[in-house]
Amino acid sequence: MLFHSLLSFRRDFKAHDTDIVLASVPKSGTTWMKALVFSIVSRNHFPIDHSPLLVNSPHDLVLSFECDYYLKPGYIPKLENLPQPRVFATHLPHHALASSLIDSKCKFVYTRRNPLDQFISQWHFLLKNRLWPGAKMSSLDEAFNMFCDGVLGFGPFCDHLLGYWNASLENPDRVLFLKYEDVKRDPYSEIKKIAEFVGLPFSEEEEKAGLVGEIAKFCSFDKLKNLEINKTGIHYGPIKNDSFYRKGDVGEWVNHLTPEMADRMRKLLEAELTGSGLILDI
Ligand code: A3P
Repeated sequence: MLFHSLLSFRRDFKAHDTDIVLASVPKSGTTWMKALVFSIVSRNHFPIDHSPLLVNSPHDLVLSFECDYYLKPGYIPKLENLPQPRVFATHLPHHALASSLIDSKCKFVYTRRNPLDQFISQWHFLLKNRLWPGAKMSSLDEAFNMFCDGVLGFGPFCDHLLGYWNASLENPDRVLFLKYEDVKRDPYSEIKKIAEFVGLPFSEEEEKAGLVGEIAKFCSFDKLKNLEINKTGIHYGPIKNDSFYRKGDVGEWVNHLTPEMADRMRKLLEAELTGSGLILDI
């Protein structure tokens, strides 16, 4: 995001109390969360077998502040007429958000992921995609050092996490902290949790009709990955839709990182998070 665009976002964006913002470090499951939250909020408009997700990437249904709306310097997007509730996404750290978001009563859904898996996912993504002309991905070792130095993709990782974590402690009804691994293990409960948090709980009839399970299945890795729209098409210039679906596994880092690297990351994170009450359990 260019400096001018960030300024414009911070100055011009007007939050609504009903807005929902999906926040995450890249490669923490943003695409998945976009599909899930879109399905939850639009369930009265589209039965799942007619979901717009069948023909649109989740990234085209839930747009991001920095990658979409405020990407072009000088362009002020018209957001007042978006369907309600408006759903946005961001990788920006909490301290970089527009003050109108902080001052409103909007809700944040923050997804975090085991940083070892998140790092590996990011490394693969950067290897495959040139985010700007001439961009060159470093070796795994170099990228790992960049992560540890806090200069890889919206880092430092802990600052990002702690910004939203502290906000969730101050205002638990405004920031929901989710774990990629929990959504993977028990999508049913997590989908219900999200729906309740954003003020759109599933009714007894919806639950009996199996709607929660349908959303979980429809947004599963295998289903989304294999939709034609997610195999083809281009998202954000050079990035292909299929780049957002690699393995979708938990604990896959063991195939790439040495025990020493994992240990270095653990120690680093432990030192940064001590006293915060946030335990990463990695
Ligand atoms: P891997 O690279 O480990 O496979 P983001 O959407 O934030 O860019 O994160 C991408 C990561 O989420 C990738 O992880 C991708 O495979 C995984 N992912 C995408 N869709 C998913 C889904 N429906 N369920 C689980 N994981 C998913």
